[in-house]
Amino acid sequence: MSTTTTLPAGPLAIGGIELDVPVVLAPMAGITNTAFRRLCREFGAGLYVSEMITSRALVERTPESMRLITHHESETPRSIQLYGVDPKTVAEAVTMLVAEDRADHIDLNFGCPVPKVTRKGGGSALPWKTGLFRDIVEGAVRAAGDIPLTVKMRKGIDADHLTYLEAGRIAEGAGVSAVALHARTAAEFYSGQADWSAITKLKETVTSVPVLGNGDIWSAADALRMVDETGCDGVVVGRGCLGRPWLFGDLAAGFRGELAAGDEGLFRPSLGQVAQTFRRHAELLAEFFDSEERGCRDIRKHVAWYFKGYPVGGDLRARLATVESLAMLDDLLGTLDWSMPYPGEGAEGPRGRAGTPKNPTLPEGWLDSQELIGHDRVTLVDAELDTSGG
Ligand SMILES: Cc1cc2nc3c(=O)[nH]c(=O)nc-3n(C[C@H](O)[C@H](O)[C@H](O)COP(=O)(O)O)c2cc1C
Repeated sequence: MSTTTTLPAGPLAIGGIELDVPVVLAPMAGITNTAFRRLCREFGAGLYVSEMITSRALVERTPESMRLITHHESETPRSIQLYGVDPKTVAEAVTMLVAEDRADHIDLNFGCPVPKVTRKGGGSALPWKTGLFRDIVEGAVRAAGDIPLTVKMRKGIDADHLTYLEAGRIAEGAGVSAVALHARTAAEFYSGQADWSAITKLKETVTSVPVLGNGDIWSAADALRMVDETGCDGVVVGRGCLGRPWLFGDLAAGFRGELAAGDEGLFRPSLGQVAQTFRRHAELLAEFFDSEERGCRDIRKHVAWYFKGYPVGGDLRARLATVESLAMLDDLLGTLDWSMPYPGEGAEGPRGRAGTPKNPTLPEGWLDSQELIGHDRVTLVDAELDTSGG
């Protein structure tokens, strides 16, 4: 295979963590547990972030949050994303992770656009309150000590209330080791195209730590293009890898200069290879949940993503989406023609959340001031309940 002549981006240093390729698996609630992270890591290189864990639940050591922070011994560096709205609780959660040696990297989530979170002032609504944002990040950096701490955010609440440049400056001043931007506002949710020009602007604003770009990377070529167009120091990849953990193999090859110009990727799995990876994912989920039944229930949501573009009939898809045991899964996968080749475009491109723009739901009067005022604190108390990602 011929190689490209210039390497598009060098290794990436996030604090003391050296990544030979500048690629990060985006935190995704309900997806990036240790099972999926291991699968992705087996194909590629870079950093693989946990799904978000609420700081309050972690401090309370709920069984679910304790499960979510677990890593397999093969996972190094270990990366955990926290979500929180209260400086004290976030700092306590970070202190706990550090004291118990449970993470090598900690990320803070300020990107969640879900109405039940923004309605209370959490998620992507929070950086609007610059003082509160600063307090959370400064406290977390202090508690993290030598462990690199990063922040992930959106552009802002909506086009008239952009927060990312100021939040980037505040985070840089607070001592974070990198900032990541999902180049959409909360109002855009997952609709339309991510605005990569915002990543360029953030890169021009935050100059002393790496800036990571995020949004709409569906292939290695997209990742290289983002770096080229925006000058960002690394990429964060979310939905593109759903049902395609091998994308991390393509991404590593792309950044190592091993893809020929115009080559979309190295991994073009046959239906049999997809079936095998899907089966392994189910097995790893069963291990993660310590329950074959829960693992099989959880793999159901991945069916459409894995088999996108492959000739798998509706009936079989429906049965895979009700699978109850690994034996049942084997029977169903056994009925496929494993020799079917990679279907090309049909298996590529957008997948996962999309949707239409929505006016963000915010606490009463939230936009009136960038300072936290009395009643804001009251609503924030509940902003960590029932959260579900970014
Ligand atoms: C199912 C799902 C769950 C997500 N959960 C989180 C999360 O827990 N924390 C977070 O910061 N972002 C979360 N996100 C946002 C992603 O990390 C990422 O910013 C977003 O999907 C845009 O990147 P992409 O275009 O590569 O998917 C989630 C996204 C999806 C689709």
